[in-house]
Amino acid sequence: MTAAASWPSVEGLAYGGDYNPEQWPRETWDEDVRLMREAGVNLVSVGIFSWAMLEPKEGLYDFAWMDELLDLLHANGIAADLGTPSVSPPAWFFHQYPQARVTDKNGTVMGFGSRGMASHASPEYREAIARMAGELAKRYADHPAVVLWHVHNEYGVPVGEDFGPRAVESWRRWLQERYSTLEGLNAAWGTAFWGQRYGDWEHVVAPAATPTIANPAMKLDWARFTDDQLRECFRIERDAIRAHATQPVTTNFMAHQSWNTDLWKWAQEVDVVSDDHYLWSPDPDAHVGLALSADLTRSVAGGKPWMLMEHSTSAVNWQGRNIAKRPGEMRRNAVTHLGRGADAIMFFQWRASRSGAEKFHSAMLPHAGASSRVFREVVELGGHLKDAAAVQGAEVQADVAVLYDWESLWAQDLEWRPSDDVQFRERMRTFYERLWRDNVTVDFAHPSHDLSRYKLAVAPASYLLTASSAANLTRYVEGGGTLLVNFFSAIVDENDAVHEGGFVAPLRDALGLTVEEFLPLREGDAATVRWTRGAEVELPSDVWQDDIALAGAEVVAEHASGPGAGRPAITRNTHGQGTGWYVGTRLSVGALRTVFDAVYADAGIETSGLPETLEVVTRRGAAEDFVIAVNHGDDAARVPVAGIDLLTGTETDGELEVPGGGVAVVRASRMSGGGAD
Ligand code: GLA
Repeated sequence: MTAAASWPSVEGLAYGGDYNPEQWPRETWDEDVRLMREAGVNLVSVGIFSWAMLEPKEGLYDFAWMDELLDLLHANGIAADLGTPSVSPPAWFFHQYPQARVTDKNGTVMGFGSRGMASHASPEYREAIARMAGELAKRYADHPAVVLWHVHNEYGVPVGEDFGPRAVESWRRWLQERYSTLEGLNAAWGTAFWGQRYGDWEHVVAPAATPTIANPAMKLDWARFTDDQLRECFRIERDAIRAHATQPVTTNFMAHQSWNTDLWKWAQEVDVVSDDHYLWSPDPDAHVGLALSADLTRSVAGGKPWMLMEHSTSAVNWQGRNIAKRPGEMRRNAVTHLGRGADAIMFFQWRASRSGAEKFHSAMLPHAGASSRVFREVVELGGHLKDAAAVQGAEVQADVAVLYDWESLWAQDLEWRPSDDVQFRERMRTFYERLWRDNVTVDFAHPSHDLSRYKLAVAPASYLLTASSAANLTRYVEGGGTLLVNFFSAIVDENDAVHEGGFVAPLRDALGLTVEEFLPLREGDAATVRWTRGAEVELPSDVWQDDIALAGAEVVAEHASGPGAGRPAITRNTHGQGTGWYVGTRLSVGALRTVFDAVYADAGIETSGLPETLEVVTRRGAAEDFVIAVNHGDDAARVPVAGIDLLTGTETDGELEVPGGGVAVVRASRMSGGGAD
């Protein structure tokens, strides 16, 4: 095996999308490549759903059309990201191996006629994907068009979990490896509760449909197991490719929109991180979620440039109301990804499909054709990315780490929590949005990571926090860091068992408190908090109050109403060289402003004072900075920067005006510190 490259060999920033030419007659391919060239497309993802075309019968391969396609792309200067089609095995496969189908938690076996993964535990599936990936790699290892391998598609969706008999066998093996003994498993799962004690490995079942809730520790392990199995399937294909080929291998993640996959682990397995992101249309500020997703992707990639593998030129087709992007919105979305570290801007998909489930999904080349607004904007964006090519390789630096752990998401999402209104994703987004509106660039980090290079660490939703991660955070504060912890954090250990010493006990030293009791509010009830540090302010709160037991922390705000009225609500604690802040209620983006202003002051973070609708991020190159600005407001806004806007050629010696809805990519001489934020 030869070491793979860590970036696809494409000149400049990569631009393109999924390309499914097998849906079209041969003459359309010529029009496609002509229009791709017009748009500046230099990379397309092919073959992701092509298994039935590549192997029409078991063992009978037809690579002729793929040969022709790759030759055509190469002749036109377009590189290929070659998919392995394992997300969609053909009809013959399921006919031949019905036992390879996925079983859901109610015991229903999923039929053919859609897409999605076969059973990750099926030996027939595992063998077939290894064979197919190997055949493709053998044939195309040296094809000059192929610069990247795209294994599978979005692991974990539409289905990740499998409750079939094969999966249950793998599950038992997985548990035996994890716990060695049944005593270990019984202890970790707390099976003394409800008489669940196991006396034989054969008696351990999957957490399928149960009369009332299943053991939460079992379900948490099931999530770990599912993630592990999916990753095993990825490795099978990756290694089959690497046996023959040296182009880098990726699989497209879904950062903040994924559930089944722990991307801290997945990122270790790929040569280059790639991500898909779609705006969530009920959210009028969905571009904030987009920025979050981009920062999370960059962070799992270890800060290295990453690929935006898919986003949409306009509406998707799978939400309740599929909202079309307005003129300029696609460009803002793409430039946000670029600013937050993406060196490839790709779409689903090149040409809109006439048939099938996704015919109402937008595309680079929509049904309306090349004379459409969308295609004109696609061509314009291609030009922008050429002009901005110097950005390639420049890295984003942040002073703030937001703690994000998929295991904590899995655990917090389990049933029977103190309040249905406390949600991991909602808290993550709200805290992120406060930082986003303040134009403070953040990285995401796992709570076990070394945080010493950050001025501030924020834990919006760290329900599951192991004792060792809590010790890591405590050391961070001791060493001079500022830590901000939100309520319902540091509650349970890796087995979803409440920490000895009670809620928040592992962070007692860092925060100067524990929590005696949760005091959630009734649905829709509102409360207030009286902030008394500096100026006195009344802040709205809802959903939750903690009954805090102080152990040295200073009270900076009290609950002014609700079940905890008169009790501490927000605290600040000095520990070692640093400071630990705690927020014991749910605050909105607006209310968090007061808290963050005080926290920034402790952490030595200066905010820019720019309008909240102006997004500015700096990417640092070898010798120069790139200040990337996206104006989400209707009015023109001024960015303090000296340099040249690569998109317009405008030179500025101190301030650049970005029109309402506009973007800028300014090449600036090296700025001090972390950049414009
Ligand atoms: C996902 C998939 C694509 C396509 C798009 C539609 O990201 O990877 O194949 O289905 O969604 O938005």
